[in-house]
Amino acid sequence: MLCVHALQLLFCPANGAWQNTQAGGNRALRPALTHFASAVDSADMLPSMHDMPDSRNWFAPTPIHRYRAFNRGQRQGMAIRLAGRRLINFSGNDYLGLSFHPDVCRAAVAAVETDGAGSGASRLVSGDAPLLHRLEAELAAWKGFEAALLVGSGMLANMGVLPALADRHCTLFCDRLNHASLVDGARLSAANVVRYKHLDMQSLELAMQKQAARGNRSIIVSDGVFSMDGDCADVRALLDLAEQHDALLLLDDAHGFGTLGKDGRGLSAVSAAAGHARLVEIGTCGKALGSYGAFILGTHDMIDGLRQRLRTMTYSTALPVSVCAASLAALQVLKQGACVRRLHENIDIFQQLASKSGLPLSASETAIQPLLIGDDAAALKASETLAGHGFFVAAIRPPTVPQGTARLRITLSAAHTEDEITALVQALAGVVG
Ligand SMILES: Cc1ncc(COP(=O)(O)O)c(C=O)c1O
Repeated sequence: MLCVHALQLLFCPANGAWQNTQAGGNRALRPALTHFASAVDSADMLPSMHDMPDSRNWFAPTPIHRYRAFNRGQRQGMAIRLAGRRLINFSGNDYLGLSFHPDVCRAAVAAVETDGAGSGASRLVSGDAPLLHRLEAELAAWKGFEAALLVGSGMLANMGVLPALADRHCTLFCDRLNHASLVDGARLSAANVVRYKHLDMQSLELAMQKQAARGNRSIIVSDGVFSMDGDCADVRALLDLAEQHDALLLLDDAHGFGTLGKDGRGLSAVSAAAGHARLVEIGTCGKALGSYGAFILGTHDMIDGLRQRLRTMTYSTALPVSVCAASLAALQVLKQGACVRRLHENIDIFQQLASKSGLPLSASETAIQPLLIGDDAAALKASETLAGHGFFVAAIRPPTVPQGTARLRITLSAAHTEDEITALVQALAGVVG
């Protein structure tokens, strides 16, 4: 058994998609190999090692095509320097290219000078700062909600908000393809969780009707733009069902904020639903704003209630002022509109070229343009081939996506040039053609 562990590790690709261990060995893997080599050597002396799991053999070995490793890449604007190569990044969430924008970087640096590197405590103790309130007010006003509450990250927002909203007397109706943070938030709550077919309003309605007899409070939980598919929830239909069943709608628009709609206000604005009393919305600063952190939007009463109950905010160090200063500066750039227009142009260019080349793209009008491959190993191979052409396009595999739906998750940014997009489509046609 130990030999099997060691063998599988030997064959693990060190850098996710496309670095292999044969190419000069792999530093990240070496300690593990050394460990397993010594474990194999001593296997005869330790026949009962399997009965005594410790930190060295706690986990079952990860199969080669599922193995995950950090790639040690260094981002340089829209490029990544990786293992001596410079690759154009088509797999980030920096949709507007703001993470390297001079105004954004300058704001962060200036805030470090005045406010220090970290916040030093939870916001409810001594980690609060005026700039965090300013960012909340500006986000709420621009998004069309009464109030906002900053949280450390989107993951923390969702893992906190569902347990805060839902107790055991509540039923959560969750889209089957919701982001992992919503899945985990639902698990952490004591609520009854019912999953409905992806984007299927009939399936949701039926589920809500079936649960009606329980008399529980209900919350519909959905991504806005689905992160691995790029398709969008029908917010109006979800809100109609919420109205009919006296429910709330929790919408995580992490990927719609800053990208959807003419001005980038996101899916709720496009659906004329911003500020609706039944809507609680999550947004992130780590994607279109090019910074870090997340926010929850809702009515004054909702946000005040969450401030009392959101454990992932209460028991966690506040976001550093510098990070929030970067988000605030990014919001000002976003409001000017040019980068959102540029992103939309780039999505159009990509879609037109892809359609001319006959690429079988999934149906998506957003910055997320997945190319379904199916088999895990084939997706890794495709990603590796694209790297050979100078592009970083991640192969997304289960458990992030359902079994048999491994894909290339191509994302577009306002900061890509037309030439880069053209060259990517040519390379993709070679890979899947
Ligand atoms: C839909 C969705 N929600 C939440 C998150 C988590 O956000 P964060 O990266 O800020 O933790 C992600 C991250 O990719 C996401 O796709």
